[in-house]
Amino acid sequence: MTSSAPATPLTPTAAGAAGPAASALVRALRGERDVRPPVWFMRQAGRSLPEYRELRVGTRMLDVCLDPALASEITLQPVRRHGVDAAIFFSDIVVPLRLAGVDVVIEPGRGPVFANPVRSVADVDRLTAIDPEVVAEAAAPIREAVRLTTAALGDTPLIGFAGAPFTLAAYLVEGGPSKEHLRARAMMHADPDSWHRLAGWLAQVSHAFLTAQTDAGASAVQLFDSWAGSLSVADYRAFIAPHSRVALDGFTVPRIHFGVGTAHLLADMRLDGMADTVGVDWRTPLDEAAAILGADTTVQGNIDPALLAAPWPVLEAHVRGIVQRGRAARAHVLNLGHGVPPETDPTVLTRIVELVHGLDLDAAVGGAE
Ligand code: CP3
Repeated sequence: MTSSAPATPLTPTAAGAAGPAASALVRALRGERDVRPPVWFMRQAGRSLPEYRELRVGTRMLDVCLDPALASEITLQPVRRHGVDAAIFFSDIVVPLRLAGVDVVIEPGRGPVFANPVRSVADVDRLTAIDPEVVAEAAAPIREAVRLTTAALGDTPLIGFAGAPFTLAAYLVEGGPSKEHLRARAMMHADPDSWHRLAGWLAQVSHAFLTAQTDAGASAVQLFDSWAGSLSVADYRAFIAPHSRVALDGFTVPRIHFGVGTAHLLADMRLDGMADTVGVDWRTPLDEAAAILGADTTVQGNIDPALLAAPWPVLEAHVRGIVQRGRAARAHVLNLGHGVPPETDPTVLTRIVELVHGLDLDAAVGGAE
């Protein structure tokens, strides 16, 4: 599919307006607090939306990710429906690996599966012999999809993303999804040299994928280290953090760093201030996270995805509590603690956006702080 006439922007840029760089999301990521937090949802695009399921009939996930018009349309769907304060680019953490020529498919209901798991020294040699520059060259459909999307979004910012080296390695070394990521964690200690070569290569590949998105107009980036919670602090520092820094190095747009089960890693996930914002899952109250992260980090989170299925009064109280606790941080971006479960009723997400957009925290406490 190719692009046709540019769509009317969802939120047209007014003459003289500063565009998405001045959006509530970007301001919060940079540390400016407003009367309400901006809100978006991880996995807001996808199976919770009937319009997505309709578009996806008969297509394969990774083919869709490389079709600029389809990827762009799917990115826009939740923005139109829910009125969220940001879009997240519709793609997947394994897309840059596919662009590098790695044989990977996404099995529905399971996740990424690799034809050739990377376990031996020879496997690592073979993979890392691929020049990460190949990803930049093959990323033309990604740049095109981002251009189409940002043109259609107007003032609403687009978040670009990539998988962190550990989370990618957790799939690649195992060959598919795993619970404890034992093989990747074993490689770090059994063969640190191979591990560092693998993670270093993955960092460059993710960096190239993020660069394709920011070059084409993404206003922020998020690094997903979803499975970092399985690591000890010592292993995180020795084997992971240096590589995640490479993935996030050099961007001028705000950087978000996210993981699940990472209460013990939150301070390290700031990457010494390289991350402007750290994502927090539902297990850690945001005021506790803010105390750990300090005065120069924004927090993002942390609605429990399980509560999306609870009666509205229960969910509303949960969301209001999170917004209150988020005030302990320099700024807060409301989100889930992990992705939207596929069976979620999408009208519940719209209702959360409406609730948050109706809040005025200054009025609620009788004046500005
Ligand atoms: O957040 C968004 O709306 C943007 C889209 C997005 C997808 N994957 C689309 C997708 C993002 C940000 C991702 C990142 C991703 N992919 C992560 C990190 C985030 C997280 O959830 O922790 C991980 C671990 C993956 C790997 C992956 N890809 C898994 C585990 C799955 C689910 C497999 C399944 O069917 O349950 C995928 C496939 C995938 N990625 C889907 C979507 C919408 C489902 C594919 C489909 O609709 O058939």
